[in-house]
This record gives sequence, structure tokens and C-alpha cells, in this order.
Amino acid sequence: MSGNILDLKRRVGLVTGAGQGVGRAVALRFAENNAGGVVVNDFRLERAQAVAGEVEKLGVKALAAQCDVTSFDSVTAMFEKARAAFGKVDILVNNAGNAGADPSAVARKPFWEQEPKDWEPFLGTNLFGVLNCVRVAGPAMIANKYGKIVTVISDAGRVGEPNLEIYSGAKAGAAGFMRAVAKDLGRAGITANCVALGATRTPAIERATSDPEAVKRMLKVYQIKRLGEPEDAANMILFLSSDASSWITGQTIPVNGGYSFAM
Ligand SMILES: NC(=O)c1ccc[n+]([C@@H]2O[C@H](COP(=O)([O-])OP(=O)(O)OC[C@H]3O[C@@H](n4cnc5c(N)ncnc54)[C@H](O)[C@@H]3O)[C@@H](O)[C@H]2O)c1
Repeated sequence: MSGNILDLKRRVGLVTGAGQGVGRAVALRFAENNAGGVVVNDFRLERAQAVAGEVEKLGVKALAAQCDVTSFDSVTAMFEKARAAFGKVDILVNNAGNAGADPSAVARKPFWEQEPKDWEPFLGTNLFGVLNCVRVAGPAMIANKYGKIVTVISDAGRVGEPNLEIYSGAKAGAAGFMRAVAKDLGRAGITANCVALGATRTPAIERATSDPEAVKRMLKVYQIKRLGEPEDAANMILFLSSDASSWITGQTIPVNGGYSFAM
């Protein structure tokens, strides 16, 4: 037994949207902390494969799993493949999300000019993707009497962001859902928590962060005067995925340089 309190004890993790950014950092943190296997999901197969390769370089078995988490059938098939490869999935990280990764999927119009079809990309991945994955992962976790579920939300979902109304609502919805799941599943030995991120340097926000002056303006509302790094998020997600957090459930923990505080 290592002295590492974050040791994952050979447990198997599935990380959605792990082809880059925060999800990639989580997959690598899992590999560095004695995961028994890592399922690297992304709807872009080449991204999932590249990160699965990085995980394997760290000596941990990885499965690159292409799947759009907005499709319940695809999520079901992905978990079947994961169980065929590893026997089980102990840890689910709902990381896939879209506030701006794919500009074509994001309605740039003010909310008051949007139509319901503009809302679908946000609700699809940020809310329905979480429901799909938890619905499919949960029964086997209950049968195994063990599970850790972590959902990545945004401070937008805690405090609300103008121009990101639907994203804010979808993330807040995911957090409310996770609190209910925590109450449902605590007695089965399963924890369910959220991590709420502030501006984190990933490809998703590359455009917004490529101009140093824009970053300076952004950081005015942060107490710690730097952007978050994917590893800042991954460290908290690793903690909530390990047994070090076994008495923490139903919480939303900000990792946000003090942009806003949790009460
Ligand atoms: N970067 C930030 O500043 C920031 C801030 C707050 C919250 N977040 C949240 O953190 C999470 C990770 O964000 P990131 O910045 O690393 O994003 P990113 O866009 O850099 O990476 C997300 C990955 O998820 C994949 N993906 C998107 N939709 C998917 C779907 N439906 N099914 C499967 N894969 C899908 C993309 O292909 C991409 O590889 C998201 O939930 C995001 O909302 C990020």
C-alpha cells in the first residue's frame, strides 16, 4: 500500500470528454494514482485515442471510447465495452461539456433573440449527457456497493453568467440532479459530487485567453491572479474520486481561484 491518500486502489475510471483539456488531465491523474484502468471517452475518436496512448505510456490499461454522451444508446454501448474490457466501472467523471469548444454548437445571439433549437447543444451535453451516464453507470455501482461520481459544472451554474444563460441553467440542473443522486445512492456506498470550475486554460477557451490584455481584464474578478490549469481541476476531481473523500457527498466544490466563494 502506498502512502498516497489519493491512491485509486486499482479502481476503474471512465472520464467523458477526455480527449483534451480538463478530461485529459483527469485521465492522466488517474493513471498516475494507481487506477486499474481508464476509459477515455470523447466524441472525437482521434482525441480519445491520443489520450488513451498517453495513459498507457504511464503503464495503465486504457480504452479509447468514442461516444456522444447525448445519446443514451451510445452511452449504453460504451459502458458495455468498458465492462467487457475491465469488468466494471467504479468511477464516473462527467466532464464532457460545451460552453464554447465548438463555436458552431454555441448560440452567440443574446438569449432574448434565441429559439429553443439554440438551447439544445447546451442542454444536450451539459445536462442530458450527465443524466445518460449516471443512469447507465448507477445500477452496476449499486450492485457492487461502491461508486464515485463526479460531475464537472461551472461557476456559471452557481452564480449565473450573462450571455451563457442556458449553459448556466444546464450546469445548475446537473448540480441539482447530483444532489438528488447523492441522497438516492449514499446508502449503497456511492458518493456523488460536483466540481465548479472558473476560467481554466483549455482549448475550449483558447480564443478568449490568447490576448494577454483580455486575460488581465478577466483576472480582475479572481483573487488568485492566474487562469486555472487543467491540473487544478484534475487534482480536485482525483480527490473526489478517491477514498480520501468518502465522507463527502452531494457537494459542489468550486475550483476557481476565488472568483466566487461557496457558502
Ligand atoms: N475551460 C473552462 O474555462 C471551463 C470553465 C467552467 C467549466 N468548464 C467545464 O469543464 C469541462 C471540461 O471543459 P474543457 O475546458 O476541458 O473543454 P474542451 O472543449 O477543451 O474539451 C472537452 C472535450 O469534450 C468533448 N466533448 C464535447 N461534447 C461531447 C459529447 N457530447 N460527448 C463526448 N465528448 C464530448 C470534446 O470533443 C472535447 O475533446 C466542461 O464540462 C466545461 O463545461 C470549463
